[in-house]
Amino acid sequence: MAMSPAHGEDSPYFAGWRAYDEDPYDPIANPRGVIQMGLAENQVSFDLLEEYLKEHPEVSDCSAGFRENAMFQDYHGLKSFRKAMASFMETIRGGKVRFDPDRIVLTAGATAANELLTCILANPGDALLVPTPYYPGFDRDLRWRTGVSIVPVRCDSTAGFQVTAGALQDAYDAAVAARTRVRGVVITNPSNPLGTTAERPALDGVLNFVARNDMHLISDEIYSGSVFAAPDLEKFNCES
Ligand SMILES: Cc1ncc(COP(=O)(O)O)c(C=O)c1O
Repeated sequence: MAMSPAHGEDSPYFAGWRAYDEDPYDPIANPRGVIQMGLAENQVSFDLLEEYLKEHPEVSDCSAGFRENAMFQDYHGLKSFRKAMASFMETIRGGKVRFDPDRIVLTAGATAANELLTCILANPGDALLVPTPYYPGFDRDLRWRTGVSIVPVRCDSTAGFQVTAGALQDAYDAAVAARTRVRGVVITNPSNPLGTTAERPALDGVLNFVARNDMHLISDEIYSGSVFAAPDLEKFNCES
């Protein structure tokens, strides 16, 4: 995971905010509590809104978590949601892998995640290797606003469209010959459009390739919960 050594919220301002969160001032119930003076945030109508939501469940069913959702929150996403997401991803992987909620960053869909990762991992003019046939949206999501190009990695029907080390190397060599810096490989498993899953030797080949060439691997597993039956489906463990 690419990140700065410090969480964006490691600062005296956020430390003060946490102190306020844990022990908020109240003139009657907690007169010795912490007063938050670092940010103007209008909460004066929260009690009215909470009451309204309770009386009108047809408007929204989130009255219980209203404050948590209405306030500024960790930009990695609500901790409660990240925990639920980690547990969900573990469940659909048959409990074979574990996910650390502290290493999950929530985005508004996979499109946003793919574009964000491309922006973070590559500079305009750099390239990503993408096995073919690939989800056509990648031509927009990975390239459009990032200035990054896609170098297709040729996968053949004769090999069941499994990505091979030779095809990765050919694509890499072509990029280097064109003086393009390759920053990573993007795989989709299960595949859109094929609906197939990557076999273990193919995944091992991809892992060896990215490790050998010191580059990133983005594994788009958006369909990992949608397979009918794939006893041989291999997925990357985020902790490894
Ligand atoms: C492989 C792949 N990645 C990403 C997306 C986009 O996902 P989202 O709708 O969550 O942005 C799709 C949608 O079809 C997809 O097939």
